[in-house]
Amino acid sequence: MPFAFLLCFLFANRKKRNGRERERMSTERKPEFFAGKGIQIGIIGCGYVGLPLALRFADVGHRVTGFDLDQSKVDKLNAGQSYIQHIPAAKIKEHVQAKHFSATSDFSVLKQMDAVLICVPTPLDERREPDLTYVEQTAKAIAPNLQRSQLIVLESTTYPGTTEELVLPILEKGGLKCPIARGPAAENIATDFYLAFSPEREDPGNKQYGLAQIPKVVGGINPPSGRAAMGLYAQIVSRVVPVTSTRAAEMVKLLENIFRCVNIAMVNELKQLCLRMDLDIWEVIDSAATKPFGFMPFYPGPGLGGHCIPVDPYYLSWKAREYDFATRFIELAGEINTEMPYHVVNAVASALNDRQKSIKGSKILLLGVAYKKDVDDLRESPSLKLLELLTGRGANLDYNDPYFPALHKMRHYDFSNKRSVELTPANVAAYDCVLIATDHSSYDYDAIVNNAKLVVDTRNATRRVKQGREKIVPC
Ligand SMILES: NC(=O)c1ccc[n+]([C@@H]2O[C@H](COP(=O)([O-])OP(=O)(O)OC[C@H]3O[C@@H](n4cnc5c(N)ncnc54)[C@H](O)[C@@H]3O)[C@@H](O)[C@H]2O)c1
Repeated sequence: MPFAFLLCFLFANRKKRNGRERERMSTERKPEFFAGKGIQIGIIGCGYVGLPLALRFADVGHRVTGFDLDQSKVDKLNAGQSYIQHIPAAKIKEHVQAKHFSATSDFSVLKQMDAVLICVPTPLDERREPDLTYVEQTAKAIAPNLQRSQLIVLESTTYPGTTEELVLPILEKGGLKCPIARGPAAENIATDFYLAFSPEREDPGNKQYGLAQIPKVVGGINPPSGRAAMGLYAQIVSRVVPVTSTRAAEMVKLLENIFRCVNIAMVNELKQLCLRMDLDIWEVIDSAATKPFGFMPFYPGPGLGGHCIPVDPYYLSWKAREYDFATRFIELAGEINTEMPYHVVNAVASALNDRQKSIKGSKILLLGVAYKKDVDDLRESPSLKLLELLTGRGANLDYNDPYFPALHKMRHYDFSNKRSVELTPANVAAYDCVLIATDHSSYDYDAIVNNAKLVVDTRNATRRVKQGREKIVPC
């Protein structure tokens, strides 16, 4: 390229870039701007939710910056590495190399973003009440960097009112305003920045429904905020579903998770009755599921696990107290689901008892510590409670999990001395009981039953095993 031409080219490009920069700085980001191309998107919290979201936006050509407090994650991402089993490193590398994605722990970079999406944790505290410190910290980190006509979206699961009552006042402290308004009269209400809530519906490990196939619910603080967020999300999902407020959008996510929590509790209770009545709950559920309308199957298990279902319903019961309202379904479901690991321990005790053994002193091998099959996530996993309860009753307990070669110290548990035992025939045969807590697909259940002395199965994982069924105790 001749030198003069190169200079012209660079100059023109710089002019174009400066033009766009000015456009951003001069508050020209109308709601329609976010339906456009080349948006600068910041994702705060590069975990199970934030990272896939970041990559999806990069996939469609936006420039994405991941923000995380965890420097080791930031370094790994910039080196094109993955720390989540189902997210391929190649995908991260491709976007890093194409400069579509980078990560940082420097929150001043937020100033350069057109849109900022918040995907930080929302756990429960020691008293099982909402712990919104991560959301609050994040809002405080955005506030000094907030720009006119920036779009901020909270994705973290939380109780109705969080965006309006917690996030909005923090963001408005710097002087920019985003008035709460809805209805046709507020369609074009003046707003200094846009704020919305859009719940994440990520189902890690789900091969049928990825982010792109799952419709996204969006509610704005005011109609322009709703439109801005819709324009952005419409670029990455098949369908965007608008609701009238951030509070409605927050409640949608809780309804979805409470629906699961309550239905799982119901089948967990019916399972215990079926066991007493000598009925196979799995056969009953599968047969009921042949009804083409009005029934949706839920399956029993050793207890609730994962970051969402055991946690989120309590966000609503906590908020409901402000309205003198008792969320009885949530409480009852919580009671039944919390009881499940104790039910499993009793089942192990009576299965061993039938073989003249006690839990105390027995060698037990627990299969699967992940909270569900084929994922590398053990948050709130009932297996951890089982490890605690069985160890407490004097069992010599080991575990196997292909996704967890070793256990580390966690908030509520410390099994840092435990390492996954190899699943050889001799190892399996050495235990008094094999307890199936998570039904990973990679397990060879024929071989496990063939070699084990006793198998307690909480997941119906051994349903296809033909030989040695007398050794299997459904639970
Ligand atoms: N995991 C799921 O399947 C799932 C599904 C739907 C909704 N959600 C919701 O999404 C939210 C995030 O969940 P997750 O599973 O991705 O959590 P995660 O723990 O996997 O990731 C959260 C990330 O945020 C980072 N972080 C924490 N505080 C931060 C801060 N102040 N600034 C920047 N980064 C910070 C952490 O280092 C971590 O990398 C939660 O509200 C959760 O309920 C999760």
